[in-house]
Amino acid sequence: MRKYIKILRKQQENTFWQTFCYDTNKSQISIAHVLLELNQRSPLKDIEGKEAEPIQWECNCQQGKCGACAMLIDGFPALACEEKLDIHMDTVELMPLQKFPVVKDLIVDRSSVFENLKKMQVWIKGKGPVKQENQKEAYCASQCLQCGCCLEICTSYTGGDEFLGMAVLAPSVRIFSVSKGKEKDLMLKKYRRYVYEGCDEFHACDHVCPVKLPLAQLMAHMNAQIKKAVGGDRNEE
Ligand code: FES
Repeated sequence: MRKYIKILRKQQENTFWQTFCYDTNKSQISIAHVLLELNQRSPLKDIEGKEAEPIQWECNCQQGKCGACAMLIDGFPALACEEKLDIHMDTVELMPLQKFPVVKDLIVDRSSVFENLKKMQVWIKGKGPVKQENQKEAYCASQCLQCGCCLEICTSYTGGDEFLGMAVLAPSVRIFSVSKGKEKDLMLKKYRRYVYEGCDEFHACDHVCPVKLPLAQLMAHMNAQIKKAVGGDRNEE
């Protein structure tokens, strides 16, 4: 099987496409595997025979557990270590996620996700045992990789608005589910603008989540709690 791996590269101030030829007899290999093999070539040459710098990309677990390898694969946000090569056409396009600043090649700076998690104060003050009825949501929420795939596909998230997107809201569900009483109501009132006021209910996040979190369901769960806390008035201050 011959494939052409077309990569949008960024080096210093230059952004350009570079294509590499990749031959394999193996089936079911991942895009991450391809990138690792390309970088083992010495020297690495593109299809025009020009020497190329090693491809910069992030990879840690190679098991779909850390979220580091998220990128656009043929225009769709996915984890390179999970995405199989043979489901793609002869030319596979790889681009960095577009809603984050590009550091180099396929590496982006996702620190905005962590800053927004701090803004949401996603931590428990004092003891916070998870009630049995909330365990399902809490477990779901704890699986979020913060890979950014859901933010990339989201039609509401721009990176600059108040709506923080599901990479931040999913972990928040876990905290909301263990908070209680007035503290919880205040938290929900304070943060509702980051949640249901911003979502346009396109729900593409639900479709692209690499760990298949039921994001629309988590959002609905949080919206229900917010509606209860603010008395159901979406415009109430
Ligand atoms: S390398 Fe960890 S999710 Fe792909």
